[in-house]
Amino acid sequence: MSALETVGGGATRGMLYGIGVGPGDVRYLTLRAAALVQAVDVVAYFAKKGHVGNARRIVEPLLAEGRPERRFEYPLTNEAPADSALYHERLGCFYRETANTIADELRRGKSVGLLAEGDPFFYGSFMHIWHRLAADFAIEVVPGVTGMSGCWTRANVPITWGDDSLAVLPATLDEAKLVERLRLADAAVVMKVGRHLGKVRRAVEAAGLLSRAIYVERGTMQEERIRRLTECFEPSGAYFAMVLIPGEGRRI
Ligand SMILES: C[S@@+](CC[C@H](N)C(=O)[O-])C[C@H]1O[C@@H](n2cnc3c(N)ncnc32)[C@H](O)[C@@H]1O
Repeated sequence: MSALETVGGGATRGMLYGIGVGPGDVRYLTLRAAALVQAVDVVAYFAKKGHVGNARRIVEPLLAEGRPERRFEYPLTNEAPADSALYHERLGCFYRETANTIADELRRGKSVGLLAEGDPFFYGSFMHIWHRLAADFAIEVVPGVTGMSGCWTRANVPITWGDDSLAVLPATLDEAKLVERLRLADAAVVMKVGRHLGKVRRAVEAAGLLSRAIYVERGTMQEERIRRLTECFEPSGAYFAMVLIPGEGRRI
């Protein structure tokens, strides 16, 4: 048995694992996550059309050739608004079918590791499968280093000091709501920036926080880019991007 197997443990028959694979650099996987990626019968992951799948890409160095894999391709991502009936219906159907496929594997006694970028219980697609299967199957969730902690580490900014409160906001909120919530926070992380970059920049400026804001794209990955938000003039950024506003609380 390898040292990784000894410390990280093995996989159990018929068990679903939600494996948090961290923010991008494979070295930030936990021992449990790395051991399970190598131990499960089936490595499953989500991917956008035409893409490898970010979580799959992160664990690539750990996957031996010929490992059984299951790719679940989103029927749409941002082709329709997330609050539209079409989006709800198509995604709902997709998650139902994905859960059924995984359930079939589990019933056959296979262990399935569903990869989740960052932490599985933090804005993760894994959650949509978890809530469909949790009543009927054994599921272990393996926490991961979140994208935001990877990003503030790479940007080299402590995010909260002393009594600072931290707001985590999706960039998909409308501009007025973003401004309102940013004004209440000591420190903030704005997730899912993508095509909302222009709006986020305006909201951060309106909340009086622009001078502190940092834009991090693909933090900890090879294509990482880190800039001050004051230097970002383009209306859209990468999907894997966030804006960090570090707190300025008590320093001793
Ligand atoms: C669906 S959420 C998934 C969050 C993930 N479960 C986590 O724990 O961080 C996707 C969003 O996370 C953020 N994100 C995750 N990893 C990132 C990274 N390495 N660099 C920049 N942003 C990241 C981006 O804002 C992206 O739009």
